[in-house]
Amino acid sequence: MPNKFLSNDNQRGPKVERLFTQLAPRYDLANDLQSFGLHRLWKRRAVRLALRGAPANTRVLDLCCGTGDMTFEARRQGAALAVGADFAQAMLDVAQQRRNTAGAEAFFARGDALRLPFADASFDAVTIGYGLRNVADIEQCLREMLRVLRPGGRLVILDFGKPANQLVRALYAGYLRAVLPVMGWLFHREPQTYLYIIESLRTFPAQRGIEAMMHRLGMANVRVFNPLLGTMGINYGERA
Ligand SMILES: C[S@@+](CC[C@H](N)C(=O)[O-])C[C@H]1O[C@@H](n2cnc3c(N)ncnc32)[C@H](O)[C@@H]1O
Repeated sequence: MPNKFLSNDNQRGPKVERLFTQLAPRYDLANDLQSFGLHRLWKRRAVRLALRGAPANTRVLDLCCGTGDMTFEARRQGAALAVGADFAQAMLDVAQQRRNTAGAEAFFARGDALRLPFADASFDAVTIGYGLRNVADIEQCLREMLRVLRPGGRLVILDFGKPANQLVRALYAGYLRAVLPVMGWLFHREPQTYLYIIESLRTFPAQRGIEAMMHRLGMANVRVFNPLLGTMGINYGERA
């Protein structure tokens, strides 16, 4: 049965936005439960790659920021400016609440990853966590991220991966198929909400496919990291 939140046509964006509008109030709790809190480590590692050795005036864009985990992390790790952008206002509302409660100095803006509302070369680093898998046109999204990145700037992508090892792949798929519908039902009385992750992974090129795209787009120092046996993927590259 096709997932009602996913279609590979011009309705993809609006459907994804509707999904995250529905997920927003419990998004952070669900993330912690699904990953046993490990997503925090992977996000920290991705932001570290974006900021390691960077000067004190570094400006970071965290695209598809959702409730702002990686945006806040960029500030914690020393970015002078951290801007989170997302097209789902409900996710941004949670991020703003977190900012107000924690007093963290991050900025949030509503915008589509395929048409970013930022000038060329306006950031030193761009991060995107669990966002690229959702967009209608991955290569266009990469081009937009490169456009707003200054030459030499860093791009870091964190997302679900596709493990090279077949046994790991099978166990991981089994875990997702067992846990996600139950969580969807418990949180939203709707198994399809989190099953969306499995559906979106089917066509996602994951770490190796993204690596090839980064090379095609002429990026420098392209590298791939495979946390948790490649069930997660982190792609790193620099704008040439
Ligand atoms: C799985 S959440 C990830 C949120 C956050 N980065 C994290 O790791 O917790 C994906 C986010 O991408 C956003 N998103 C998906 N497609 C987008 C697009 N075309 N433009 C902007 N945001 C988008 C969704 O609204 C959602 O908040």
